[in-house]
Amino acid sequence: MRIILLGAPGSGKGTQATLIEKEYGFPKISTGDLLRQAVADETPLGKRAEEEMKKGGLVRDEIVVELVRGRINKEDCRQGYVLDGFPRNILQAQRLEEMNSQQPEIVIEIRVPEEVLIARLSARRICPQCDSIYHLLSSKPKKKGVCDSCGAELIQREDDRPEVIRERLRVYHRETEPLINYYLEQEKLFRVDGSGEVKEVFKSISSVLKEERKSLGEKKKK
Ligand code: AP5
Repeated sequence: MRIILLGAPGSGKGTQATLIEKEYGFPKISTGDLLRQAVADETPLGKRAEEEMKKGGLVRDEIVVELVRGRINKEDCRQGYVLDGFPRNILQAQRLEEMNSQQPEIVIEIRVPEEVLIARLSARRICPQCDSIYHLLSSKPKKKGVCDSCGAELIQREDDRPEVIRERLRVYHRETEPLINYYLEQEKLFRVDGSGEVKEVFKSISSVLKEERKSLGEKKKK
């Protein structure tokens, strides 16, 4: 099963993708994490992506499409995977449909009011080593400034500055929101309220996934 998490910056895609990976074993594929890693490693791809990421714009489609293609062709993705941050426009969605097209696709839109998004992003901290996600109020590390999972020092993302957050939200409305109708028309879209606590949101996502897996199993039997 291919699970696509759709939602504005700060809606909790990364947090929920990590929980889905833990609970269901579908590897989490985050284009944001892959791009940040490429930037940190100063690869040619990272150098091409860096400027756009700093501004809060979208990295060129051909770069991210190739990144995703390379990742989902790996062995651990054969049974499925969860995409966080991809696709981000209709062209990327169409390219994705051409890859592993036999995988059933389910899209979960996580909806969160804009004022909550801004508060979340301003207080986010991440681990540059293992990509764990924290929040200074709602999801604190056990030891201040240190990652619970790997002990690395936590950092604030460069694009979590107020002016870049505003630009990322603008880009989301303009480029990514049209995907909601695109997937509604394909009858693949499920919506969950993402404004509650992490556990509550995960419960809603889990019930969608369980229902879908059940109905896929039933379809297979027929
Ligand atoms: P990316 O890393 O994908 O950023 P994003 O989509 O803007 O999403 P975020 O990572 O900011 O938020 P999230 O929804 O994952 O929320 P999170 O779980 O962290 O992309 C970064 C950049 O890379 C883009 O701007 C672009 O330049 C480039 N890029 C990436 N993909 C691309 C693509 N396909 N095409 C082109 N360019 C691409 O949670 C946020 C905070 O809230 C955390 O602190 C968390 O602890 C907290 N939190 C989460 N859930 C809850 C909750 N329920 N209650 C309270 N707090 C919560």
